Amino acid sequence: MVEDVDLDEPKAGEVLVKIGAAGVCRSDRHFMHGDANIALPAVLGHEGAGTVEKVGPGVTLTKPGDQVILSFVPACGRCKSCLEGNSNLCDLHMATGPFMLDGTTRLHKGGKDIHHMGKVACFAEYAVVPETGCIPTNSGISMDKAAMIGCCVPTGVGATMFSAKVQPGSTVAVVGCGGVGLNVIMGAKLLNASQIIAVDIRESQLEFAMKFGATHSVNAADRDPVAQVKELTGGRGADYTFEVFGSAETVKASYDMCAKSGTVTVVGIAPMGAEASINAVDLVRNEKTLRGTYYGSARGRTDMPTMVDLYLSGRLNLDDLVVRHYSLDQINEAYGDMDEGEVGRGAIMFN
Ligand SMILES: NC(=O)c1ccc[n+]([C@@H]2O[C@H](COP(=O)([O-])OP(=O)(O)OC[C@H]3O[C@@H](n4cnc5c(N)ncnc54)[C@H](O)[C@@H]3O)[C@@H](O)[C@H]2O)c1
Ligand SMILES: [Zn+2]
Ligand SMILES: [Zn+2]
Repeated sequence: MVEDVDLDEPKAGEVLVKIGAAGVCRSDRHFMHGDANIALPAVLGHEGAGTVEKVGPGVTLTKPGDQVILSFVPACGRCKSCLEGNSNLCDLHMATGPFMLDGTTRLHKGGKDIHHMGKVACFAEYAVVPETGCIPTNSGISMDKAAMIGCCVPTGVGATMFSAKVQPGSTVAVVGCGGVGLNVIMGAKLLNASQIIAVDIRESQLEFAMKFGATHSVNAADRDPVAQVKELTGGRGADYTFEVFGSAETVKASYDMCAKSGTVTVVGIAPMGAEASINAVDLVRNEKTLRGTYYGSARGRTDMPTMVDLYLSGRLNLDDLVVRHYSLDQINEAYGDMDEGEVGRGAIMFN
């Protein structure tokens, strides 16, 4: 059910955005199902794009009429993480969570505050967001593609480019080939990996992954995916493995299928409290690297425009990525389709 709520005017350093499109990402589903925590009530939606309608006092980064991609980590630019170049981990953003940067909310109903997922809250016709979370593109790309650049593109492509730093000629395995996993595959292709092994439990996802650059596929529902990836890589395992579903089991599989001196990058967000056990001796003797990646280690204000350029120059296939469009009142259907294992990404479209 879609409800009307009150939205305040943008305060200093904030912007009112008319949402054009919002992506259907699994991260929202984690909050809906209690696999992740958010202060409630909350408006979800963190993969979005729109048009700036109005700016609050002191805003200089964008102006009314700009087409903007929204970042779910609006970086302050002043904290230790920001100053070290890790604006995707901004300390002020993390400390204020689903509140605006001043610790209050702009969404209310019946005298009660409503929280903003990622300070984006784009499963709504309008959103008030910090100006640093608005990345103007004015590239004229369609809103559904722009929305993808708000999460799954920088997360997936960034995981290969900025987190793992995939080397040309290397072998890659991607465990989970949904919206984000397909972007990991595209990133690996862009970085000239020699072998890109798609791993999923659904044959439809595996077939679809071929469109984006996967060279091999492994169905984890049929047989142990670790053994299958090892078979495809001459017994070594893949140089870079990416976990892009979010479970202890897939984290462990991604670790186990990684080659000597390889890197395991965990993108998926497992349910709260999940713990994956890894072989502590293998980690040392085989010099593996195990790391997580948040937002693909991408710096929104500089890397999102790069993703737009990569799409415009034909290096990222976002046209085939967005396969389903819904209206806001079809949002439950959109998440139902994700549960049913429909391929590619869905987008909620607004007029
Ligand atoms: N790190 C970040 O910053 C970040 C950003 C966005 C999303 N995420 C997380 O990434 C994950 C993927 O998101 P998405 O939107 O692509 O989800 P999705 O539902 O579109 O894709 C998940 C895929 O995993 C497959 N899968 C399920 N079980 C599997 C198994 N045992 N082995 C192999 N594949 C399996 C599914 O069939 C599906 O194709 C989620 O956990 C999401 O929260 C993380
Ligand atoms: Zn997301
Ligand atoms: Zn910061």
